Amino acid sequence: MQISSFGNCGALVSDLQLASLSDKELSELRGAFAEYGLLFFRDQVLPPEEHLRFARRFGKIVVNKFFKTTEEYPEIAEVRKEKTQQTNIGGGWHTDHSYDDEPALGSILVARTLPTSGGNTQFTNLAVAYDALPDHLKKRIEGLRAVHSNTHLYGENGLYRMTDLAEQLGGMDRVGDATHPVVIRHPESGRKVLYVNPGHTIQFEGWDFAESRELLDELYAHVQQPQFTSSFDWQPGSVTFWDNRCTWHMANNDYQGQMRLMHRVTLAGSSLAAA
Ligand code: SIN
Repeated sequence: MQISSFGNCGALVSDLQLASLSDKELSELRGAFAEYGLLFFRDQVLPPEEHLRFARRFGKIVVNKFFKTTEEYPEIAEVRKEKTQQTNIGGGWHTDHSYDDEPALGSILVARTLPTSGGNTQFTNLAVAYDALPDHLKKRIEGLRAVHSNTHLYGENGLYRMTDLAEQLGGMDRVGDATHPVVIRHPESGRKVLYVNPGHTIQFEGWDFAESRELLDELYAHVQQPQFTSSFDWQPGSVTFWDNRCTWHMANNDYQGQMRLMHRVTLAGSSLAAA
């Protein structure tokens, strides 16, 4: 197995097949996942059964409350954009399931149908971004907790419900919020991580929206700087495996008129402790 860093975030893992990992390779992969928080793979042969099998070797699967799943495999969420649709799923920076009390550990995304060009996924690393925060911002966020929600996206008048993705979404009655520390201790790497994201964090606990917005925008501007990010160009056989506790991602929506279909399996996590 070869592991080499990829852009400014994540690592490319080569010389292995996820469908036939030895126990030793799995253990090396766990180490790389804790170190980089984001792994890219090329030229994988990973049909749905193998996708699920790999996920189960890593942890317990948790099913997304809102996305459609494939008909045959209810644990595989479809990240689908038809030729005729304008809006894509995950087109803004976010991390998966931060609105849950026990946010997802990670997500494994497999390319199924790709546009001829475009449709890259951007990633950024929130442990590296935390370390690089100026001291005055580290001090301001110390001890804070933030509210994470999905209501503004998937609730009755949620943003996604107003788009041409609406028909593809369920779960309107499953919306809800959770609060988490703003700086968490990563359960495996032990690193401090900035745990807020533009998709789901709506305010700091005990603060009003306007006051929260100002500080959140300052933090988000810091995290989105190019020195923390990578852009992954999907090819047939590409797979990414990201850690939702220390990365954000965002799918580019720059392939109008073409279809893109990805299969996503999400792994269950645990409640997050303050650093
Ligand atoms: C997602 O937000 O999980 C989708 C990412 C992608 O489609 O590239």
